[in-house]
Amino acid sequence: MSLIRRFCYLLLVTCLFVLWGTDITLAEVCPQGRYVSQAPDNIYNQINPLGNTPDVQAKGEKLYHWTAKPLPCANCHGISGNAKGMMARSMTPKPRNFSCKVMMKDIPDGQLFWIIRNGSAGTGMLPYNKLNDDQIWQLVAYIRHFSK
Ligand code: HEC
Repeated sequence: MSLIRRFCYLLLVTCLFVLWGTDITLAEVCPQGRYVSQAPDNIYNQINPLGNTPDVQAKGEKLYHWTAKPLPCANCHGISGNAKGMMARSMTPKPRNFSCKVMMKDIPDGQLFWIIRNGSAGTGMLPYNKLNDDQIWQLVAYIRHFSK
């Protein structure tokens, strides 16, 4: 194999790996089926008490991409919130697509809060019960920005 050909081949393989590792290879589903249970009424109807200021969102952003334990949300929900994170491929049901406006506008803050805290049994959605209330509301504020 000539050097140039070998170089092109390597370039192609690298590109494929990069594509595979990013969000853009799977089709986006919107709206999706939701398998979550509904939060109790008093929580379901709550509006984010922290509001949606840039400061609150910035704290949510940090948790979403880097610090939330056991696993940052982006691994499944994707770096752009479109449900195409690295771990989403083999997952059924799929993670929520936060960039799907028609679906997200009908899910109240309190419902998002409830599922983040308690998870969705039988799915990949883990309970984040080590986060305090403020941190969960920061996440709610941040995931809303994907469908703005
Ligand atoms: C291991 C993969 C995974 C991780 C990590 C993950 N989720 Fe999820 N998430 C899911 C799946 C799968 C669903 C869909 C569950 C369903 O439909 O029952 C979901 C659903 C949700 C929902 C949907 C609520 C609703 O009523 O529709 C919210 C909100 C959510 N996740 C927020 C988060 C946040 C915030 C984080 C990080 C703190 C996070 N998730 C981390 C897999 C994940």
